[in-house]
Formats: sequence, structure tokens, C-alpha cells
Amino acid sequence: MSAERVLDPDAPCQGVTPLVLSPMVAKDTPIVAALERACFSSAWEPSAFLNELSNPAAVYYVARCCGGIVGFAGMWVAMDEAHFTLVGVVRGHRGQGIGTLLVIELLDEAVRRGATRATLEVRELNFAAQRLYLRLGFKSVGKRPRYYTDTDEDALIMWAEKIHLPDAVERRRVIRESAEATRTCRSSLSARSEADA
Ligand SMILES: CC(C)(COP(=O)(O)OP(=O)(O)OC[C@H]1O[C@@H](n2cnc3c(N)ncnc32)[C@H](O)[C@@H]1OP(=O)(O)O)[C@@H](O)C(=O)NCCC(=O)NCCS
Repeated sequence: MSAERVLDPDAPCQGVTPLVLSPMVAKDTPIVAALERACFSSAWEPSAFLNELSNPAAVYYVARCCGGIVGFAGMWVAMDEAHFTLVGVVRGHRGQGIGTLLVIELLDEAVRRGATRATLEVRELNFAAQRLYLRLGFKSVGKRPRYYTDTDEDALIMWAEKIHLPDAVERRRVIRESAEATRTCRSSLSARSEADA
């Protein structure tokens, strides 16, 4: 079987293939590490992702579209808490709900593993990520001063409480459905305009 190619992170989404989310496996790790290096300021070594796969507390998902990996997200779940470690979507595929769908997938998996609350750190100036987390029930509860050593930026500490309760699960289901419906609609629109061309 041929190896999966690393997509150009800036190539715009073609919108004609369905989005597929799946747990990250060993052969995904060099691709995720390459995309992480290309797109984000905190570059993890490929070995760090491989190590994570052997950690029973760690859960990582990748999102595929347009023939390759376009997003990834991960967390550790210990006792009743989930701690998000990473969320990223390549530039050409942002703004289509992929980040939202990845975070929902992880929150639902965290609940299946017994978590009742989730936390993460986010850069103080990363408003796009903060809006995504706020929509999914996270609230800012404090700061870690100069947490990001590359820019000396503060981290906001966000928590989502009671992620296991039925109203939280239902809220995520509704947001997921709406994100999926928008994507399907965009896909069929793109497919139609290609056919019309
Ligand atoms: C933060 C990040 C993961 C968000 O990923 P994303 O896939 O663009 O997220 P979503 O598409 O789910 O949501 C982003 C926006 O797109 C909008 N959107 C969602 N579905 C959409 C659709 N089908 N069509 C158009 N816009 C849509 C959302 O409403 C949201 O808008 P807002 O910024 O006004 O709130 C991405 O920007 C990223 O990788 N950034 C760099 C790394 C990073 O900051 N990671 C987080 C560290 S804590």
C-alpha cells in the first residue's frame, strides 16, 4: 500500500470528499508532526506523537479530507478530568467546522472514559480558538503568565464543567449536526459547480 502524502497545508479545501475522523495510529504520526511543524508554533517531534500512542491515558484523533490529514487533536484523560494537549487544523481547511468536530469527538470520548470535566490552555490572543472552546462550554478561569516561551504570551486556562450531563451531551450533538450539515451542503455545492464547469 502506498504511503499517504502530506497535503500542502495552505491548499484550499476542494469540498468534494467527506470529512472522516479517526483515532491517530502510528503511521499518521510523521504526517501530523510535519503538519504541526508547518502550521503551528509549538513543533512536536514525531517521536513525541509515537510516545503518546503508547500512553493509555492519551487519546488522539485525526481528520482526513481531500486525500490526506487536515486536522488533529489530542488529550489525556485521568480520573474524571480530560486535559487537551493539542488542537490544529491546516490553514486551507479552517473555518469549516473541522476544529469544532474534533473537539466534540474528544469531549464525547472523554465522557466515555469517565471524565466529567475538561481543561486546556490557549494563547491569550488566540481569539478563534477561544470562540470555538466557548461555544463548546469552556469558560476562562485564570491565566498562566508568560506560559508560551516563544512569544512570552500568557495562557488562558479554560475549563468545561459537567461535560457528562445530558444537556451538555445534547448541546454537542446539536452543534455537531449543524457543522456536519454545513459541510455536506458545501460539498454538494462544490461538486455541483465542478460538474457545471
Ligand atoms: C483554532 C483552530 C483549531 C480552529 O479550527 P477550525 O477548523 O477553523 O474551527 P471551526 O471551523 O470549527 O471554527 C472556526 C470558525 O469557523 C466558523 N465555521 C464553522 N463551520 C463553518 C462553515 N461550515 N463555514 C464557514 N464557517 C464555519 C465557525 O463559526 C468559527 O467562526 P468564529 O471564528 O467566528 O467563531 C484553527 O484555527 C487552528 O488550527 N489554529 C492554529 C492552532 C491553534 O490555535 N490551536 C488551538 C490551540 S489551543
